[in-house]
Amino acid sequence: MRIFVDSADVEEIKRLHKLGFISGATTNPSLVAKSGLEPEKIYTELAGLLEHVSAEVVAEDSEGMYEEGKRLASLHPNVVVKIPFTPEGLKAVKALKSEGVRVNVTLIFSSAQALIAARVGADFVSPFIGRIDDIGYSGVEVISQTAKIFTLHDIPTRIIAASIRHPAHFIDAALSGAHIATVPPTVLWKLMKHPLTDIGLERFLADWRKVQENEK
Ligand code: G3P
Repeated sequence: MRIFVDSADVEEIKRLHKLGFISGATTNPSLVAKSGLEPEKIYTELAGLLEHVSAEVVAEDSEGMYEEGKRLASLHPNVVVKIPFTPEGLKAVKALKSEGVRVNVTLIFSSAQALIAARVGADFVSPFIGRIDDIGYSGVEVISQTAKIFTLHDIPTRIIAASIRHPAHFIDAALSGAHIATVPPTVLWKLMKHPLTDIGLERFLADWRKVQENEK
């Protein structure tokens, strides 16, 4: 499972990228609005750093989504156009795919939606684990079913586990067959932190210092 960061905070993404394990970023209109930055500047800057940057359209009709998608894709080859799963969105996916634009279908809440998105040519589908859990179903189960369906039917579409709220979601996404997890920075920092690593390092260094002092 590859690891993306789910954020539009360019400085925070740069900090995480320096650690070497982030290969992409996914944004959405809420995250871009929260950043206070100019959307196209965010996408262009991040695309110069990462191999995948999902940038979402905000038009609601298929023609508008298509035009916006074409413009976003022209910003940089690493920009992937994010289209919401609606009937208009599906039409836009088909049109964008005929132009060779890479597409990530978002706001996926069931394996049936994921299969339909794949059949119109989505390169990526983004099931929202946390929001599925919020309504009393299992987000991870949607990932497992989708992974099983894609394997059974030789579907090359990649699954991006999104709406990851805590470390257990990340591990469950990996175990249930997501190809990518897109993770908010706060959860990424939690995933890297382990008290036994800190205690272990403290002890190693304390023992090392004792020997150095004895040798004096
Ligand atoms: O990128 C979309 C998704 O990750 C949103 O997460 O926590 O707002 O459901 P959340």
